[in-house]
Amino acid sequence: MSRKHGGRPDGATVTASFDAGASAYDALTDRNPGYHEHLRVSASRLGLPADGSGLRLLDVGCGTGASTAALLSAAPGATVVGVDASAGMLEQARAKRWPGNVAFVHLPVEELGAADLGGPFDAVFAAYLVRNLTDPDGPLRTLRSLLRPGGTIAVHEYVAGLTLSARLRWTLVCWGIVIPLAAAKGGNVPLYRHLWRSVATFDNAPAFADRLVRAGFTDARTETMSGWQRGIEHTFTARRPDAE
Ligand SMILES: C[S@@+](CC[C@H](N)C(=O)[O-])C[C@H]1O[C@@H](n2cnc3c(N)ncnc32)[C@H](O)[C@@H]1O
Repeated sequence: MSRKHGGRPDGATVTASFDAGASAYDALTDRNPGYHEHLRVSASRLGLPADGSGLRLLDVGCGTGASTAALLSAAPGATVVGVDASAGMLEQARAKRWPGNVAFVHLPVEELGAADLGGPFDAVFAAYLVRNLTDPDGPLRTLRSLLRPGGTIAVHEYVAGLTLSARLRWTLVCWGIVIPLAAAKGGNVPLYRHLWRSVATFDNAPAFADRLVRAGFTDARTETMSGWQRGIEHTFTARRPDAE
């Protein structure tokens, strides 16, 4: 993957890589222990009211729909809009069976501010998206603006470990399991090398919480997961202030 912006690949390169990896994506994530369960944990950390009827939720970077399914498990009655820049990932998502309250839109997050998605939204879910963005700060401000005042964002993300043990675990999992598995199962190997690098070079947890505050969110809260992901995978929740 070519890198132009301070070591980060540009959006078109990232999207092309997800397009190339789309058909094998679910087979690989299904082998990751905790992948779906942890998405559900993060969706539940949005603290949505039971059933979610009447709520409008945005799943940005919805990919093949794993995070969309997690949102629905937290709020089955909500209207959910899934947005993604990769036509290949969306094709996989659309091929699944969804209730009538779910819609998918092909759009990069960088263009959401000018799009009419029927917001404002009560909550935004961004799972494994932000670290892939060339410049996350502008899109985070856009996501805040798409929330109703008081609305909540949950960013579900791998971030750079704060301890040597977490950083070593990340490198061992990627180079010892994920990348060889991608090679064996027809995945897009450069995408999984990008996964390793994008986490190792991204914010650590306190830095990412600060980034949310700089983007105008309030009440930022950080929680990690159990399993091999402890100290690496997190849910960051925050709110759009009630009055701005
Ligand atoms: C690692 S996948 C995660 C998919 C899904 N959220 C999940 O939990 O399985 C990241 C997704 O973000 C999308 N993405 C990356 N950059 C994007 C951008 N600038 N705008 C919208 N989607 C983007 C990719 O196409 C990909 O589908």
